[in-house]
Amino acid sequence: MLIEMPRHTEIFGSIKIHEMQRVLKIDSGRFANPRAKDIPFDEIKDILRRFAIIVPVKDEKIHLLDGVLRAIPFDCTIIVVSNSKRDGPDIYKMERDLVSYLHDLTQQEILIVHQKDPDVGLAFHDAGYDHLLHKDGIVRDGKAEGMIIGMLLAKALGKDYIGFADADNYISGSVREYVIDYAAGFCMAESPYSMVRLHWRYKPKVIEDKLYFKKWGRVSETTNKYLNLLMSTHTGFETRVLITGNAGEHAMTTKLADILSYSTGYSIEPYHFVCLFDQFGLGIEDNTDADAAKAGIEIFQIETLNPHIHEEKGDTHVNNMLRGSLQTVYHSKLCNEYVRAKILEELGDILEWEGPKENPIMPPIREIDTSKFMKMLKSSAETFARFEQGAIMLEEEEKREYFKEESFQTVL
Ligand code: GDP
Ligand code: CO
Repeated sequence: MLIEMPRHTEIFGSIKIHEMQRVLKIDSGRFANPRAKDIPFDEIKDILRRFAIIVPVKDEKIHLLDGVLRAIPFDCTIIVVSNSKRDGPDIYKMERDLVSYLHDLTQQEILIVHQKDPDVGLAFHDAGYDHLLHKDGIVRDGKAEGMIIGMLLAKALGKDYIGFADADNYISGSVREYVIDYAAGFCMAESPYSMVRLHWRYKPKVIEDKLYFKKWGRVSETTNKYLNLLMSTHTGFETRVLITGNAGEHAMTTKLADILSYSTGYSIEPYHFVCLFDQFGLGIEDNTDADAAKAGIEIFQIETLNPHIHEEKGDTHVNNMLRGSLQTVYHSKLCNEYVRAKILEELGDILEWEGPKENPIMPPIREIDTSKFMKMLKSSAETFARFEQGAIMLEEEEKREYFKEESFQTVL
């Protein structure tokens, strides 16, 4: 891959935020120039083998999930964490059949589990981590909650890198690019505590029956503005370096995943920054992790070559995301009166009569015994399945029988 060098890096305490980098070529010809870095594909492949890609899914069209799963490079392990309906049509069963079918055909390692499986809740309880459980002992709804389940499984498999890919992506090929972009970021990283966040080149929308290649959405523009303001009000220098506050598509080293806390639902992504600012930002003396503070935390922001087209979920969803995101900024240790007042003004009608609530925060997952967690799921959770990587070459005769019986149509 040929990727632009960051033109500037903002240093805020122990955190380094690199300015956006564009992908110049996904497959390059080993030509590095002073403005670009060439990353050979075998280096990327080395990273992919140590990578788990988590796909959170809730009632998405099965065709979209199918495309996403098929696009994730073979060397990575895929972890599907579903919160889809099980009554009426059992959507989770369709997802699991799809996973099992794809594994049969490809032999890629893939795990799947349902977030609301009572045994998942039990495994968390047993691990002494009740922070994402309802009173009834079942894991709450929410994308972040699903992501945490996936992270624990990735850790149990001994992966060094953990990334995320949404299941509602209409362009399968873009998902392949995302994963390669993540790997490229890690090839450039100097710190073992690093994160790669993707920025869409375009997010096309249909406007008056034409496709319009929009660059910015309202939520991300606003979230980024306030995250930047948190830094600017501390350094005294205005910055706009941060452009990936709401990046659902992101990846991090397992070492970084271990020291972060996680906000619930859709505020998980902007909270990564707030959590890092509050622990490692400028002027913070009592860093919670001395090793990370010393090594520094590195954040890459990569602009994808592909546009992003996903399922549109309406205004309520957008408002919830905006409220969730700004609430995390509002409650940051670094947020002063000026920024708070600005946020209240920005949220205006969305808040109605309540003030900005504090999102529930789930503490670091570092202490959880992940192999025990996975063993528990394996032995008792009805919805858990692990399909391991294999290189089974079927005999010709067997293959013929196999394809007679199974047809992709039965799955979709
Ligand atoms: P947006 O793309 O950020 O607007 O948000 P989406 O609604 O598309 O959600 C991102 C991804 O998370 C999609 O793949 C959703 O299906 C998935 N998702 C949403 N809510 C949940 C949840 O409660 N649990 C799980 N496991 N996944 C969820
Ligand atoms: Co989406």
